[in-house]
Amino acid sequence: MRRVLITGGAGFLGVNAAVHMIERGWHATILDNLSRAGTERNLKWLITQHPARTTFIKEDVRNAPALAEHVSDQDAILHLAAQVAVTTSLTDPDTDFDINARGTLNVLEAVRKNNPEAAFVFASTNKVYGKLDHKSGPCKETQPLDFHSPYGCSKGTADQYVRDYARCFHMNTVVLRQSCIYGAHQYGTEDQGWVAHFVHSILRGKPLTIYGDGKQVRDLLDARDLSELYEVAIEKIAITRGEIYNVGGGEPNQRNLLEVIDQIGELVNKKPQYTFSDWREGDQRLGRVPGLTPRAGEVPAAARQVGEQRRLPPRQRRHRHGCGPHHRTGDAGTLRGHVLDRAADRPAPVEPCEVQDVEHLQHEVIAPAGGRHGQPAKSGEA
Ligand SMILES: NC(=O)c1ccc[n+]([C@@H]2O[C@H](COP(=O)([O-])OP(=O)(O)OC[C@H]3O[C@@H](n4cnc5c(N)ncnc54)[C@H](O)[C@@H]3O)[C@@H](O)[C@H]2O)c1
Repeated sequence: MRRVLITGGAGFLGVNAAVHMIERGWHATILDNLSRAGTERNLKWLITQHPARTTFIKEDVRNAPALAEHVSDQDAILHLAAQVAVTTSLTDPDTDFDINARGTLNVLEAVRKNNPEAAFVFASTNKVYGKLDHKSGPCKETQPLDFHSPYGCSKGTADQYVRDYARCFHMNTVVLRQSCIYGAHQYGTEDQGWVAHFVHSILRGKPLTIYGDGKQVRDLLDARDLSELYEVAIEKIAITRGEIYNVGGGEPNQRNLLEVIDQIGELVNKKPQYTFSDWREGDQRLGRVPGLTPRAGEVPAAARQVGEQRRLPPRQRRHRHGCGPHHRTGDAGTLRGHVLDRAADRPAPVEPCEVQDVEHLQHEVIAPAGGRHGQPAKSGEA
């Protein structure tokens, strides 16, 4: 059985990726220091679902000497562990650098010295392109780097090291510059994970603060689609090695924050409460990158295997004063009914927890009936 080590594997994307890889026949070893709130719960869920296919190592990527033994018997490394919030990076740039830049170099060096043939996938970010407030369309990988914020700098540093290890040391590394990802198992806060944070807050009637004008555009990608891309990047490492790919939801999944807030409000039948505040440092006006399989022509085999990505519900015109269920009950009512129907079919959570409902709803808000665009939803597909 092939083995993948997922650093940060108890986090949002880590758990999604682990489930995906396990279902494809892999054994997943999760290396995580469990510093992010919600990770213990994610881990417990994963181990309960797949006890025989999951190994957990509580470790910190800053602890370089400890990493050698964990990377050595793996076929692939998926390096996701990170300090993930721009806000935190501004208040504590040292820790941000230690985890994101030095921590990535630690993992790279461990792999170089102990398992240089392994496929190595790195979760980078479109923040390496800076503010992206031009209006010249989705940015390509050739867009000049313009690190902005300590988080952008530390992730960008890691991004360049990962790429360079393919050149200088002939390692099988590939960089994915991810846009905004949504899905189950995310414990979003105001600092990071905004879709989950919005769903959670609106459900509970908590007021939101929107930093900026709310018209900043994001292209959202389902974590399950990203997980599939991780797998393809690993399986096709002979093609993807040394490459950098922008990864996002693409044009069909581009929404501004206000549109997403409206959609959530409709689905939960609540009028979202929000106020505006100043732009935050490093926030991107247009965080757009091309779709899930950028440069598909250059990686045809990979593109074919990923298939079509999940899409958001159709964009709807905003009401001038924000949304409310009374404005557009039809579509929202149908989706909400679908949410509740699906809720009844879902397997019981590990333990009763209100957040499970939020996770579920989050999926339904963004990826309702139909699953992959144009195809019927698979039974039980979360
Ligand atoms: N979620 C997104 O929209 C998004 C977008 C672009 C890039 N990314 C990148 O994807 C990766 C995963 O992000 P996520 O959304 O799953 O975040 P997350 O916070 O849910 O997961 C990160 C995980 O890393 C762990 N971790 C943190 N510091 C660690 C350390 N020193 N040693 C070991 N483990 C540590 C945390 O406990 C957590 O489980 C990150 O590298 C992030 O920068 C995410």
